[in-house]
Amino acid sequence: MCGIVGYCGNKPASGILLEGLRRLEYRGYDSAGICVGTDTGLKVIKKTGKIRDLKAIVPEESFGHNGIGHTRWATHGGVTDENAHPHTDCSGKISVVHNGIIENYNQLKDKLLAKGHVFKSETDTEVIAHLVEDIYTGNLTQAVRETVKHLKGTYGIVVMHYDNPNLLVGARNGSPLILGVSDNEMFVASDVNAMISYTKQVVYLEDGEIISITPDGFEISDFHEKNISRPINEVDWEFESFEKGNFEHFMLKEIFEQKESVMRGMAGRLNINLATGHLGGLNMTNSELLNIERVIIVAAGTSFHAGLVASYLLESLARIPASAELASELRYRNPIIQKNALYFVVSQSGETADTLFALRELKRKGAKVLGICNVVGSTIARETDGGVYIHSGPEIAVASTKAFTSQLVALYIFTLLMARMKDMSFEAGSEFAKQMFSLPDIMDKALSKADEIKKLAKKYNFARSFLFLGRGINYPVAMEGALKLKEISYIHAEGFSAAEIKHGPIALINEVTPSLFLVPDDRLREKVISNMKEVKARKGKVIAIAVEGDKEVAQIADDIITVPHVSEFIYPFVMIIPLQLFAYYMAIELGRDVDQPRNLAKSVTVE
Ligand code: F6R
Repeated sequence: MCGIVGYCGNKPASGILLEGLRRLEYRGYDSAGICVGTDTGLKVIKKTGKIRDLKAIVPEESFGHNGIGHTRWATHGGVTDENAHPHTDCSGKISVVHNGIIENYNQLKDKLLAKGHVFKSETDTEVIAHLVEDIYTGNLTQAVRETVKHLKGTYGIVVMHYDNPNLLVGARNGSPLILGVSDNEMFVASDVNAMISYTKQVVYLEDGEIISITPDGFEISDFHEKNISRPINEVDWEFESFEKGNFEHFMLKEIFEQKESVMRGMAGRLNINLATGHLGGLNMTNSELLNIERVIIVAAGTSFHAGLVASYLLESLARIPASAELASELRYRNPIIQKNALYFVVSQSGETADTLFALRELKRKGAKVLGICNVVGSTIARETDGGVYIHSGPEIAVASTKAFTSQLVALYIFTLLMARMKDMSFEAGSEFAKQMFSLPDIMDKALSKADEIKKLAKKYNFARSFLFLGRGINYPVAMEGALKLKEISYIHAEGFSAAEIKHGPIALINEVTPSLFLVPDDRLREKVISNMKEVKARKGKVIAIAVEGDKEVAQIADDIITVPHVSEFIYPFVMIIPLQLFAYYMAIELGRDVDQPRNLAKSVTVE
């Protein structure tokens, strides 16, 4: 979604801002702009389209001493140059970038119009620039502090004023802002990616805080002027992780990276001697863990699918009632918090508004909530009572791939920990840990089918609708495969339990609506084969993802992609890979923008 970057220091600002915006591209956006302080005034340049379109109208030689930049994902007002950020006041001396939504902007706008302010855009953001103008009497930090008292909604904002050439002022309420600290220069951004090539020293701003930034330092205070001291943290992501390397797209790179990212998520967390899991960040004693009577996993999109897979595993192996809930629905359902229930909120970005608000609602009601996040220092990671970082490294492609398998790793290790505290034997625990350690090898085998899947995508590029069908623990994997396909190829796809098709979806079957079946050699294999036959009998094309050597499935299916034989609960890790690759190659076939699909954002920070 929208991205912010700001710079003040001794280097020319415009080039640094453009580079920062380029690194925010992955979040999804429809327009972009920068405002740079020069000796003669603020220079605003903004444009709909991609960063390359913006670059084309910015002077090639970097200029200006400080500045702010923004990638916009339209909420209030259409996708136009005027509505792109930064927005300025009437005098053109004040400039603002904003992530989030100002809910009372109409009332504020009416008041400002009555005072004679002239608006140039349809956005909610522009009211902030005019409000600061209205309040400013020489102290920008104070003016921003007064301004935010009038704002209702969520925001991360950064403001600059021509009269204060070395100052940026930021404020946060519900939308992340992070400071980047370097020698004689400072950065501010909504996401560390924007500044990772310049500094790894960061300071996280909390809601209700204002930050004043000059090249020499920063001051944090709250909305009531109380000074706050905050440590500087080191980000451990490597700069190379933000580059595509030899891959054509970030998504393909991230699919192939999974054999390493699952390993990172396991490192130090599987105890072979005790045949159990170890997750230091849970902040719970063994007896507290033993008291858990129910686990509820709360998330959105792909993270929700990881939660669904884990709910099967927790019930089967740890014998704890478990379920996964959509964060957006749970929040408004007035959830009943059961005694001894443990909630996990799962989020790659750690900033998803639906998940964050569900977390706050659960905590308000007194629930114990742990987080499973990828982005270190993200809002969800900081607001939970404890949790686990999945360590999958930065996920740049909008479509989530490696985060899904890393989320599974964290939840699988938690399951092992719980199962071993309950009924699971040492031998069974050892076997489970051994299978987890074999993930990189078996995922590598699944990845080796990339060329076959590419051919498959060529063969099926005519189809405009697909069914993805699985059973048991692979049913949520089918849902995830369908989500991947629709996200990046814009082909309609739905994931169903294979058993459910006879209750309705089978009406969709015809020659041009293929069904993609997940057929592991587990206890539901025969049932899935029957469902495949039902589809074939209705002239539906069948693609099967089945186990190496499964001749019966090969005979029924029109096409088959094989995966290695693994134990029942490990199949989600190998079944998802062909589905991710299939979505990728279908999108390539259809000429889609794989890493930045239309209308989507990487981090969905609005409801
Ligand atoms: C799918 C996708 C989204 C996210 C969802 C939750 O490829 O990227 O469905 O999974 O928006 O995002 P996080 O995990 O960041 O909370």
